Amino acid sequence: MVSLKLLRRSIFITIILFLCLGVYYINKFHRENSIPIKNRFTSVISSIDLEKEQNQKFFKFNALYNNYIKKHDEAVKKLLKLKQSTVSNSTNLPKVVVVKPDMKTGIGNRFPGIVCGFLYSIITDRLLFIDGYKDFTDYFEKDFEHNWEKVANLYQNRSVKSLHSIKKNEFPLIARGNLSSEEVNSYDILRIHTWDYVCVPIMSNPNYKEWIKEIIPDYKIFTVISQKLLRLKFDINKQVENFITNNFGEYNIGIHLRVRKKTKKTNKMIIPIKHYSQVVEMLLMGIDKKNVTVFIAADTNESRNNLINYVHKSLDSDNKKFVKIVHINNDMSIENPYSHFNRGTEIGALIDMKILSFCDDLVLTYGSTFGYIAAGWSYRSLRRLGPFVVMPERKDEDNFSLDKIWLWQARSNEPCMYLGKVLMKTSDPKTVEVFKDNPFWMHYSQGCP
Ligand SMILES: *[C@@H]1O[C@H](CO)[C@@H](O)[C@H](O)[C@H]1NC(C)=O
Ligand SMILES: *[C@@H]1O[C@H](CO)[C@@H](O)[C@H](O)[C@H]1NC(C)=O
Ligand SMILES: *[C@@H]1O[C@H](CO)[C@@H](O)[C@H](O)[C@H]1NC(C)=O
Ligand SMILES: *[C@@H]1O[C@H](CO)[C@@H](O)[C@H](O)[C@H]1NC(C)=O
Ligand SMILES: *[C@@H]1O[C@H](CO)[C@@H](O)[C@H](O)[C@H]1NC(C)=O
Ligand SMILES: *[C@@H]1O[C@H](CO)[C@@H](O)[C@H](O)[C@H]1NC(C)=O
Repeated sequence: MVSLKLLRRSIFITIILFLCLGVYYINKFHRENSIPIKNRFTSVISSIDLEKEQNQKFFKFNALYNNYIKKHDEAVKKLLKLKQSTVSNSTNLPKVVVVKPDMKTGIGNRFPGIVCGFLYSIITDRLLFIDGYKDFTDYFEKDFEHNWEKVANLYQNRSVKSLHSIKKNEFPLIARGNLSSEEVNSYDILRIHTWDYVCVPIMSNPNYKEWIKEIIPDYKIFTVISQKLLRLKFDINKQVENFITNNFGEYNIGIHLRVRKKTKKTNKMIIPIKHYSQVVEMLLMGIDKKNVTVFIAADTNESRNNLINYVHKSLDSDNKKFVKIVHINNDMSIENPYSHFNRGTEIGALIDMKILSFCDDLVLTYGSTFGYIAAGWSYRSLRRLGPFVVMPERKDEDNFSLDKIWLWQARSNEPCMYLGKVLMKTSDPKTVEVFKDNPFWMHYSQGCP
């Protein structure tokens, strides 16, 4: 009885969301879809061209970033000259934002906080540091020294304010407060935990939203900042480029299939793997003459193989011989050293994520931040509509219905996460109102019907 009620309610909410989003897309789509269809499918991406194009578009942010690097370098140089013994509680030290990524969760949970942290640091004129990302330089380029360990000892006794603690909930401060107020300014350290908190609250803030929009047009915050702070190292990028050169066609569909995730909330939920291949069929309608590639990133070998079989079967029955199905050869039975939630290697995950980011359309699993991050993690995402997200269904005792597919397409490739609902529930009406005065809030909360 209870689950039936819940089911009805979630169907209702899903439909409402779908309708809202639908109207929103149609309006925006007509206005913005000035890119000819032909150009939406750039096959082998010329990264250099895209880089040039985006460098022009984001010249304001790029200038700001270059200035930041200079400022940061000078400040760190001075800090490193200080001897701990000569530093007392009253020594003037630069104020900092310190991001602590939750290394036990996946990459999807780590990245957004780093990007928001940078935004907070430029808004509050503080230095950005990252705490505990030990092997960061094995994977990423670094434009400035942000390893917190290098300077943490100097800040031992300094005052700390935690900005992303869900329990203390600083959502009102971020969504509408003054981050340079005397109160906030009095703290030497602003601490950011990265788990599940994205940049949407700060882009709602009336004190900052216009400025952010001015610096980063259309609020492509994650994409623009991650292209600087979370840039893969040359040799890893080379592997991505080679894979794309050898495998991408004129139209490329990326699928992120996640089956291992089990939480209390999703235990009774399931997405039949066949649904993903049905979405592929839908996407392939009307593009018979293209060379198509379907790229699969899955979290188990078995589900990957199942999906490949489903896609093959549906292609055979449709006589679609021009479609190539590919994946990188990562072994998903390997235990990830960071976390028992995840399988496979760190580098395999990063390569999967990056290849997904270059696909022309994305089909993602509900509730997995990995796919949401992949969607925004390249300039390519600026030319794509948002990802398609496949929703789970409630599983009955020994059966679940295969008679429908719940699917929505987001309007944006900015990462969206499910904490929106929790944050709104525990906040005052004024904050909720301000938060909702932002077209992204819908996108932000749709992960949690
Ligand atoms: C922090 O406080 C302790 C205790 O007073 C002191 O020994 C230490 O030197 C202080 N460290 C810094 C960096 O101020
Ligand atoms: C420095 O600050 C720490 C923590 O606030 C405090 O325990 C310590 O007594 C202070 N040391 C001095 C020398 O004031
Ligand atoms: C934020 O606080 C600072 C310091 O009190 C003040 O100078 C500034 O005007 C405030 N900004 C807004 C938008 O209220
Ligand atoms: C499509 O693929 C075929 C076979 O790989 C190739 O010969 C052809 O040039 C491709 N066409 C385009 C437009 O890329
Ligand atoms: C999983 O797939 C990878 C890539 O195809 C393969 O190298 C590996 O042996 C497979 N592992 C298992 C346990 O099947
Ligand atoms: C599961 O549902 C299908 C479709 O409604 C039905 O044909 C089948 O008998 C059901 N199986 C069980 C075990 O209830």
